[in-house]
Amino acid sequence: GLKKKEVNVLCLGLDNSGKTTIINQLKPSDSQAQDVVPTIGFSIEKFKTTSLSFTVFDMSGQGRYRNLWEHYYKEGQAIIFVIDSGDQLRMVVAKEELDTLLNHSDIMHRRIPILFFANKMDLRDAVSAVKVSQLLCLESIRDKPWHICASNAVKGEGLQEGVDWLQGTMA
Ligand code: GTP
Ligand code: MG
Repeated sequence: GLKKKEVNVLCLGLDNSGKTTIINQLKPSDSQAQDVVPTIGFSIEKFKTTSLSFTVFDMSGQGRYRNLWEHYYKEGQAIIFVIDSGDQLRMVVAKEELDTLLNHSDIMHRRIPILFFANKMDLRDAVSAVKVSQLLCLESIRDKPWHICASNAVKGEGLQEGVDWLQGTMA
């Protein structure tokens, strides 16, 4: 049959934002983990869409591991950046990490797509995806295609819309 195009994706964002939960939901049900635990270092995961075969570098967001991220930037052909929409206190930290990413020499001049998940929309004090994009100044990203989706990774809501966008921009 037709071989799907293989793409490497980096999944980034602060610890506890929901990266592993999102990737776990995108995997085929027979290879999904029963319970998600904080990532140590990083983990390599795979999932497929209709036209693409994704290899995901699911990075730990813990402060002590964030220095690992940049070693994988060169290999990344797309980025999934996850934000905990209910963690308003750390939104500024998320913005700092995003700005550091965007200004890195291995990312800066490449037109790689960035998919943002404004995750944990189910939390009572979650801010909207529009508000998240304002707080992170996403409108200032002009040299890369980007898209933001509200999501609830525990229920799997909003994930397909994001992955459809990513597939559309990479296929
Ligand atoms: P690190 O691996 O430490 O960087 O964290 P992570 O970004 O991979 O977060 P992880 O997927 O481990 O999720 C952290 C916690 O948030 C878990 O208890 C998840 O069940 C929970 N969680 C993830 N997504 C959602 C969501 O959309 N809503 C709610 N309420 N909880 C979520
Ligand atoms: Mg994780």
